Amino acid sequence: MIDTTKAHPLGRRRFLAGLAGLASAPLLAGRGSAARSAEPKLVETRLAAGPARVQLVPSQYPATDVWAYNGQIPGPVLRLRQGDRLRVQVHNALAEGTTVHWHGVRVPNAMDGVPVITQPSIAPDGTFVYEFEPPDAGTFFYHPHQRSYEQVARGLAGALIIEEREPPKVDRDVLWVLGDWRLNRDASVRGGFGSFMDVSHNGRVGNTVTINGRVPEEFRVRAGERIRLRLVNAAVARVVGLEFAGHRPVIIALDGQPVEPHEPDGGVVGLGPAMRADLILDMTGDPGSRHVVRDGFYPRLAYELIRIAYGDEPPVRNRPEEPVRLPDNPLTEPAVKKAERHEVVFTGGMMGNMRALPRGMAWAVNGVANGCGDGASAFDPLFVLRKGRSYVLNLVNDTAWHHPIHLHGHSFRVLSRNGAATPHREWLDTVLLAPRERAEIAFVADNPGDWMFHCHVLGHQAFGMMACIRVT
Ligand code: C2O
Ligand code: CU
Repeated sequence: MIDTTKAHPLGRRRFLAGLAGLASAPLLAGRGSAARSAEPKLVETRLAAGPARVQLVPSQYPATDVWAYNGQIPGPVLRLRQGDRLRVQVHNALAEGTTVHWHGVRVPNAMDGVPVITQPSIAPDGTFVYEFEPPDAGTFFYHPHQRSYEQVARGLAGALIIEEREPPKVDRDVLWVLGDWRLNRDASVRGGFGSFMDVSHNGRVGNTVTINGRVPEEFRVRAGERIRLRLVNAAVARVVGLEFAGHRPVIIALDGQPVEPHEPDGGVVGLGPAMRADLILDMTGDPGSRHVVRDGFYPRLAYELIRIAYGDEPPVRNRPEEPVRLPDNPLTEPAVKKAERHEVVFTGGMMGNMRALPRGMAWAVNGVANGCGDGASAFDPLFVLRKGRSYVLNLVNDTAWHHPIHLHGHSFRVLSRNGAATPHREWLDTVLLAPRERAEIAFVADNPGDWMFHCHVLGHQAFGMMACIRVT
């Protein structure tokens, strides 16, 4: 076992030293300078899920009892290079079963971390070894897939970064894992997970948003520098809509997959739970200036997330460099014209027809409410897809609520929304549907197995908005 407690052997600090609350050094095992060569390597590490106590809020308030990987919020950053193989030994130090799901990574089915369906739940004090070669470079994350509406809300989540073989040139590669907590006044995590009030509405939207496990204050930058900002929304329910006052972020990847570089609509970077975006942020502000990053997604809950604080040094450069375009990942293009089509209708929730659902359920997918993926039982697939064929799914949100819909084991292109072609035909693994919105997604069913297909508002998932798609 390679010692992963040390920082990167090359001594490259990938993270911003001044970033408030960055608890974890990049966690990566390597073989000295071989890490720079094209030769693939095996990256081994361990994760232990268990109780911990951490300081989430400013230090005049108490610390918080959480559930964490390796005692850290968020869990350690797992960083490897495209082509490397990852082996993670997971130990369960919780008092209940758990698993680890590698969100967005096109893993073999047996490594997907869904209890009952792809593996037995990891019992308390048990271990499980995950091993796979992530095919795609990009920004991904990991989290439990068992009672995740509580396990993630208590803190279990971490980033998984697969570096491009030739990463684009930037001055700094910065990661913000956004967490959302519902805290009491004494900074303890409030109970009531899975309350019907929450799960039938927006889910458990919290009252405290953290960046890398701390309520942030300042993001220190230098004028003229170019930053690659990797955003991970690790919240159980909160959708964010980030506005960078005085700046023009350019999106270069969504859900880990490269996209034609573009400025987001209205300058707002919107991310539902589990979604990721890689931004190029050119720090075009003046030395010494301050700018607010605000999240206004829920108008009545708008707040200032963090402040960009420029140092007084003169600009690193005067004019931004050329835009960055990431190399494509090895995804197979779906044959949209020849694709078989299916419709998926999401129903339920407050102001929806919940009476038609089984007792205790709040949501349904094509009329069926599965509250699974929580280790309770397996269930029948919604569709059986033929390996290698192209499919178009017409997703219909027939509810009054937002739903980030996630498919395991595949990335899909978003072809249209409400009948209008999407300008970038982005590849995603989680598509955010607005109330009453429709979206067509297309993909090649090239990864055999039973794959979960569910809403990533984790309380919605557990209370019916969950299905399984079989590729055979
Ligand atoms: Cu991020 Cu089924 O999960
Ligand atoms: Cu939902």
